[in-house]
Amino acid sequence: MGEIVITGLNKTYPNGVVALQDFDLAVADGEFLVLVGPSGCGKSTVLRCVAGLERPTSGTITVGGRVVNDLPPQERDLAMVFQTYALYPHMTVFENLAFSLKMRRRSQEEIRGAVASVAEKLGLGQHLHKKPRELSGGERQRVALGRAIVRAPQAFLMDEPLSNLDAALRVQMRIELLKLQRELQATVLYVTHDQTEALTMGDRVAVLHSGRLQQVAPPREIYDRPANRFVAGFIGSPAMNFITARITRGENGLFLDFGGQTLSLPTDYLQKRPGLKPYQQKNLIAGLRPEHFIPASEAKTAAPGILKIRVEVVETVGPVNYVHFSLPDPQSGRDRTPFVAALDPSVPATPAQDLEVAIDPDRIHFFDPETGTTTPY
Ligand SMILES: Nc1ncnc2c1ncn2[C@@H]1O[C@H](COP(=O)(O)OP(=O)(O)OP(=O)(O)O)[C@@H](O)[C@H]1O
Ligand SMILES: [Mg+2]
Repeated sequence: MGEIVITGLNKTYPNGVVALQDFDLAVADGEFLVLVGPSGCGKSTVLRCVAGLERPTSGTITVGGRVVNDLPPQERDLAMVFQTYALYPHMTVFENLAFSLKMRRRSQEEIRGAVASVAEKLGLGQHLHKKPRELSGGERQRVALGRAIVRAPQAFLMDEPLSNLDAALRVQMRIELLKLQRELQATVLYVTHDQTEALTMGDRVAVLHSGRLQQVAPPREIYDRPANRFVAGFIGSPAMNFITARITRGENGLFLDFGGQTLSLPTDYLQKRPGLKPYQQKNLIAGLRPEHFIPASEAKTAAPGILKIRVEVVETVGPVNYVHFSLPDPQSGRDRTPFVAALDPSVPATPAQDLEVAIDPDRIHFFDPETGTTTPY
């Protein structure tokens, strides 16, 4: 299987839309790399340029060490799987799976062997004689995958292949697809707008925003060390809470002021996070993940930041309650900033109730208010 290396890719469509700017990405041999970002950020454009369906304005693309820029799609030795299955409706599953090999004039015997092997891997054995309309959505998507796999290409390009499936099936197919990828040791460049899918599936995740790559890293790192405010807000559900904050030094210690409240910080806080030193007494954006709030009574750290909140809405989702509240944030351009804390259902929380929650200061993210870049950890 081949690695995919994209260097200096730019794409401006004829109508002037700048879809990609200075895009660099390398998908290693055997890697499952997920490209994620909001609608219209340029994900499909990347895939289409790699596949040869779209001509880059500039940049180089190699597959398995070979520059493919000037090769037509069929000579790039890549298989694409789309959101719509695009199966041939008049052909059986067997014929759909066999089609590309037939076009390559492979022998009957070779075709039968390859189709049988792929059908077994994908659990399609009992469906080989059926037409696509006789299959469920999940089965159809498996045939589409099978059609890509049967050719044993250098690499796979997948554009939201699971988004037509219902929620339960999507979760199941994610696991199946990953198992299959491991088994085949396939190189996969996988596009989705779903951050959960990106985190659960990717060996690494590449976050794209407005045609520019924001960060490429393993899922844990993307979550724990987002490079900037965009990544921090896009990855994670419910999203990270953001508010204007200021680190101040008083007579008896170090404090964090935000939302009209003052939290005490450990005295060695700036030694542990020297990147914050230049921001003392200046505005910063603080980022707090919903799951990093705990009831004040459970706070164990010596100097937990205690926040007094008034509960507005409580959403019950099973393992946790999402407790909504808001804090004043005049700098944000609106009076109050909405917040959500994920609290254990055993914590009593009802609308209009006053509650104290604690925040571990080590878990607070900080962003430069002008650039949105994460302050160095
Ligand atoms: N053929 C085209 N001609 C002109 N503009 C295009 C063309 N295809 C895409 N665009 C524009 O380029 C930008 C990137 O589109 P692209 O399809 O790559 O986004 P995407 O990230 O795949 O979005 P989605 O998640 O909605 O599929 C968008 O602004 C889109 O409107
Ligand atoms: Mg797309």
